[in-house]
Amino acid sequence: MTQTSKFCFVIHPVSLEDVTRYEPGAKGKGEPIIRKILDWMPAYAAVHVTGVRTPDGRETEGWFVAATLMPDQMIEFPREKVYDKILRAIEIGADMGAQVAGLGAFTGVVGDGGITVNERSPIPVTTGNSLTIASGIQSFFRGAHEMGIDPAHSTAVVLGATGSIGSACARLIAPRVKRLILVARNETRLRKFHESVGPELACTSDYTTDISSSVRRAQLVLTATSSTQDIIEPEDLQTGAVVCELSLPHDVSRRVASERPDVLVTEGGNMLVPGNPRFERVREPGQEFDLGLPPRTALACMSETMVLALENRCEPYTLGRGIDLSKVIEIDRMATRCGFSLADMRAFDVAITPEMIAATRAAADERRKAIA
Ligand SMILES: NC(=O)c1ccc[n+]([C@@H]2O[C@H](COP(=O)([O-])OP(=O)(O)OC[C@H]3O[C@@H](n4cnc5c(N)ncnc54)[C@H](OP(=O)(O)O)[C@@H]3O)[C@@H](O)[C@H]2O)c1
Repeated sequence: MTQTSKFCFVIHPVSLEDVTRYEPGAKGKGEPIIRKILDWMPAYAAVHVTGVRTPDGRETEGWFVAATLMPDQMIEFPREKVYDKILRAIEIGADMGAQVAGLGAFTGVVGDGGITVNERSPIPVTTGNSLTIASGIQSFFRGAHEMGIDPAHSTAVVLGATGSIGSACARLIAPRVKRLILVARNETRLRKFHESVGPELACTSDYTTDISSSVRRAQLVLTATSSTQDIIEPEDLQTGAVVCELSLPHDVSRRVASERPDVLVTEGGNMLVPGNPRFERVREPGQEFDLGLPPRTALACMSETMVLALENRCEPYTLGRGIDLSKVIEIDRMATRCGFSLADMRAFDVAITPEMIAATRAAADERRKAIA
């Protein structure tokens, strides 16, 4: 059998619900106490992943190691303190045998997007953003197709357009839509980004820091921000719009689920893992760890790390904010070769069935009639 490498992946809670899923003992404790405990808690090996197996019989195992901080703590705490916690998590993974490390959610956002962490790490580090971009783009256009939207006649908006994921997604979406709006908070950086890529984009484009006005103008929305709060509200969305959500924590208000039955929201970065993957709690052997996803499903950034281990490509594959699009194509091919595929559509913790899509389209038609 081909010898493959092992991996570790740094996880952290992105919400209080995550904390109680990781640590059921935290249930009932107040938020300030939970935050203090997370701050004090050292990094620890949370999950042993086994059974990831390619169609040609290659297999890998790895560990999810928790760097116990919430997203806003990662942003607000002194940078060195956060780096130390992430690096301690990687060291634990390396001690267990991992040869490549992935950075989950805000552990790949904080500071320079993994560059410094990689320089200080005992093993190569990837943010996993290349495969997140590849799967996000597929999900984005799948959502448009399901809602009967022709991208070539549509306006798309990318929220977080100056970021690692958002900037690459903007470049990949542009050739297939009529108009593209780029959104972030820092206007200077946004203008410079638009000046540098605008002339190369194969569609009309502009930029704004006004989220609400940009979303109101778009049929297709992709979120890839590092916001720690909801930024898309139900009243801003066009009738029958599609929102592909890559941000973790999510950008779309939960009110959209109940107040906008005509809008299709879909989580873009979920992948089906090949083989018979098991996510077993390290501290309670035999007990499955609840990732908050359906069985056999992992985030695309986790999947990138697994693919690199399976392909013996233990290297700092994706780092920083200027993503190389050729790597997005390459990791997508490697993932397909290893048997990974886009997971079924899902949002607000439930699977999106064909019946739900039909109901969403019908609600959009009704709303259009009511408005006309
Ligand atoms: N689903 C997955 O598998 C997966 C994998 C990896 C990462 N992620 C998630 O993807 C998101 C983006 O990651 P990244 O590495 O691309 O981050 P990044 O490089 O730090 O980029 C973040 C972008 O969001 C913008 N932004 C931040 N706060 C905002 C706000 N309140 N309103 C509008 N724009 C805002 C930033 O620009 P300004 O600062 O100028 O606003 C920047 O353009 C994160 O939530 C991360 O956790 C998901």
